[in-house]
Amino acid sequence: MKRLEKIYEGKAKILYTTEDPNLLIQYFKDEATAFDGKKKGIIQDKGALNNKISSRIFRYLEDRSVKTHFVDMPSDREMLVKKLRIIPIEVVVRNVVAGSLSKRMGVEEGAPLKETIIELYYKSDPLGDPMINEYHVKAFGLAEADELRKMEVSALKVNRFLSEFFDERGIMLVDFKLEFGVHKGEILLGDEITPDGCRLWDKETREKMDKDRFRRDLGKVEEAYQEVLRKVLE
Ligand code: TMP
Repeated sequence: MKRLEKIYEGKAKILYTTEDPNLLIQYFKDEATAFDGKKKGIIQDKGALNNKISSRIFRYLEDRSVKTHFVDMPSDREMLVKKLRIIPIEVVVRNVVAGSLSKRMGVEEGAPLKETIIELYYKSDPLGDPMINEYHVKAFGLAEADELRKMEVSALKVNRFLSEFFDERGIMLVDFKLEFGVHKGEILLGDEITPDGCRLWDKETREKMDKDRFRRDLGKVEEAYQEVLRKVLE
């Protein structure tokens, strides 16, 4: 399936129409941003690495009955996906304290949590993705109550499957962000699942293998993404 018209360009990906009105091509770029686009850079080959990582993970989830927008990976940087009406909510799932949760609660990174946490953020770059709760979702009409419920059930299912998937590969799934959309009336997991939107730590050494290496200038960014791909394909 060929790329036709560019309909959207985001920070890390471009969306193109195809001959099939129900399908889009999601093209993965090497550009990396952090802190709502204030920090910019290139991670060599990130587009291809992330497409391969995400495609493998979406296939794994589809095999376990998680509904996603993934259809196929026609080339290194292209993912064929079902066209979605994106729900403007970022769903963050946390298993271990890290990042903004560490700052907000004044608890050191790596501290365990008694329970998994789900957080919701309003997807808006100009506003810096503010944190919201289910009342905001209903009051501002961001999603229907049953849509939000389905998103949260799916997010917890993804967490169970991926925590096990990464654990078997020597990686701790610390936290991650998901986006959902509607296709033919059904809620599907969209976007990507990659080291850009997940915190992945080496289980033994706790070394960071994700975009925090870029955000915090820790070096060896490409190497970390390559290592994640290698393990994800095991
Ligand atoms: P946080 O600790 O900065 O709130 O991030 C939680 C998780 O969500 C982390 O795995 C990175 C991911 N994330 C994104 O994918 N996009 C974002 O804009 C933010 C803020 C976080």
